Amino acid sequence: MALNVLFAARDGLWADYKDHLPVAFADAGLGVDLSRDHPPANVDYIVFAPHPALTDFTPFTRTKAVLSLWAGVETIVTNETLTQPLARMVNPGLTQGMVEWVTGHVLRHHLGMDRHIHTQDGTWDQTVPPLAPERKVCALGLGALGAACAEAIAALGFNVSGWSRSQKSIAGVTCFAGDAGMTDALKDAEIVVLLLPNTTDTENALNADTLALLAKGAFIVNPGRGPLIDDDALLAALDSGQVAHATLDVFRVEPLPADHPYWAHPRVTVTPHIAAETRPETAAAVIAANIKRCEAGEPMHNLVDRGAGY
Ligand code: NDP
Ligand code: OXD
Repeated sequence: MALNVLFAARDGLWADYKDHLPVAFADAGLGVDLSRDHPPANVDYIVFAPHPALTDFTPFTRTKAVLSLWAGVETIVTNETLTQPLARMVNPGLTQGMVEWVTGHVLRHHLGMDRHIHTQDGTWDQTVPPLAPERKVCALGLGALGAACAEAIAALGFNVSGWSRSQKSIAGVTCFAGDAGMTDALKDAEIVVLLLPNTTDTENALNADTLALLAKGAFIVNPGRGPLIDDDALLAALDSGQVAHATLDVFRVEPLPADHPYWAHPRVTVTPHIAAETRPETAAAVIAANIKRCEAGEPMHNLVDRGAGY
């Protein structure tokens, strides 16, 4: 009998996935009836992206798992009506996109590209940037995305430190862990990349105290989540020159309200939560493979630790 898979995500995503998911299910040898309208009591699996109409999972009595199309699961992880396993998204397209976005913004700040892009006023300024090994970059978060970015930046020759909850070992990256490790990772960093999840423990990870650990004139690159940064502390650090520029992709409120000071700040770059997109082609295969594992009684990949919040 076919599995009933409910696609619970905003309308725009259905157009992206309605063709890719059936192909991936067929390739995985799964018989699936994919719909946006299955009655809750008939649903075997839910493919999920933040969705205002689905907040109560109580009626999904036979559902075996929820599979998120997003890597960040803060909108669903605390939902007490969800008792089934929750898998988050890890896929090669998402990781590749994040590595490209982070590397691009790190190189922009490292090389001081803005100086020549925005100032063509006849000034022959031959200031030469340091080489990458002389530039300290810190990656907060060394998970699927953070580790790939840290590794890519290290491969360019940067002096990279990284921080995570559990100790990691990544080629070319000096890894620190736990609360004490954060100070060591951030100390004198000139560029900070935030790829932590949004949890109660990570809120305001960058605040007045931790910003003060950085080298004067540091750069912040945040594709993680808005609440990782204390916005008032960042604005104060930008005004004092402790932070030279912040490139921000994610915000406490999205879309970022038009009157938010970040929009008008001359040393803030706002990008509209586009650092990395889950790519339907590769994500559909990940979803299908994970449902197949669950059907075979094997542990699913990328399960969220509900206690840790990510
Ligand atoms: P992972 O869960 O794989 O990695 C999270 C990392 O953060 C891990 O290294 C984890 O440590 C570390 N961490 C979590 N809590 C703490 C803590 N309290 N102290 C220290 N380290 C901590 O997530 P991903 O790498 O896949 O994604 C990271 C985030 O990126 C997502 O949660 C999402 O918010 C964001 N994102 C943004 C996108 C965008 O377009 N802007 C796209 C996709 C994701 P440990 O390894 O020990 O568990
Ligand atoms: C995600 C995101 O979490 O797009 O996947 O931010």
